[in-house]
Amino acid sequence: MFRWEKIRKPVFCLAPMAEITTLPFRSICKSMGADIVFTPMISSDAVVFNPEKTLKIAEFLTKEQPVIVQIFGYDGEKIAQAANIVDKKLKPAGIDINMGCPAPNITGNECGSGLLRDLDKALDLVKIVRKMYKGQLSVKLRLGWREYNIKEFCQQLEKIGVDALIIHGRTAKQKYTGHANWQPIYDVAQSIQIPVIGNGDIMDWRMAYRLLAPSIFEGLHIVYRQNDKPLAIGDKQLAGVMIGRGALGNPFIFKEIKGKRTYTNKFKELPKIIHEQTLKYIEYTGNEKRAILEMRKHLGWYIKGFAGAQEIRKKAMLVNNYQDVKMILKELENNGKS
Ligand SMILES: Cc1cc2nc3c(=O)[nH]c(=O)nc-3n(C[C@H](O)[C@H](O)[C@H](O)COP(=O)(O)O)c2cc1C
Repeated sequence: MFRWEKIRKPVFCLAPMAEITTLPFRSICKSMGADIVFTPMISSDAVVFNPEKTLKIAEFLTKEQPVIVQIFGYDGEKIAQAANIVDKKLKPAGIDINMGCPAPNITGNECGSGLLRDLDKALDLVKIVRKMYKGQLSVKLRLGWREYNIKEFCQQLEKIGVDALIIHGRTAKQKYTGHANWQPIYDVAQSIQIPVIGNGDIMDWRMAYRLLAPSIFEGLHIVYRQNDKPLAIGDKQLAGVMIGRGALGNPFIFKEIKGKRTYTNKFKELPKIIHEQTLKYIEYTGNEKRAILEMRKHLGWYIKGFAGAQEIRKKAMLVNNYQDVKMILKELENNGKS
């Protein structure tokens, strides 16, 4: 049985991303070496009132485990109720409460990072969930609503029995602007015992190690670019890091992290991965047209960064069916040979 306190540190996690980290892409990331994978957020109300449709978003394969299902909501009892439904129907490794989403339609309903506006209320909410849901419970949050002010809140979360924290180094107000600030993440991690997973702006495997534990990274003898010095924060290592956008079009990032080196076969392997993901999407949605439309955005992320990519990507944005995708794959293969 999965327990956050027993994880083999460091762990490299795939971030929850709405409409992206459903089964097809998530299982590809898992096969590349992601240790713990998160489903997209699902609404507690939707789980309670329309479980069949909503649970589809969180559906996973046994071989993806440990899988954490993320729930958003405004009411502790509802979130706990949803957590128990998810637990019974899907048996994930754990449940995560979303306190990070900055989208106005979410925060406007006192969900996601909107909960960070009132930390006392947020703590009461988590207390209720902790009391009613007995499985592994984590909270994914940002540094604060307007400024970094979550340190004591995180200590309280530990006290009431939350098993792990995932911290994105931005405030809610920042949304996705500027850079993630990891200093407060280390600050929180040094003040509590439960695992803290850092998140924000990891775009390649070197950054994953550098931000995980700057002092250890120095031991890898990697030459820093100018102005890219590790932060001076002492020896404390985080329990792990979480990667979101850095995995889009590049699930290989997990393979690179595990191998501690750049994977040079990426572009050669691209057609195989795209094909695999397309088939998974068709099976997952049970609807070729919908699957291919979902695949379009992934094709846009996959097909970039090599000679000839732009032309192929343009065509990839027009795919309508499986045969169209196969044509793109042929072009990619031929492009690789030339
Ligand atoms: C398209 C998209 C969808 C996201 N959906 C969720 C979500 O459902 N739940 C959540 O906690 N965070 C969500 N996030 C935030 C990510 O999990 C992550 O915290 C953020 O992107 C910062 O990490 P990164 O710089 O590695 O991408 C989403 C981010 C993106 C880009």
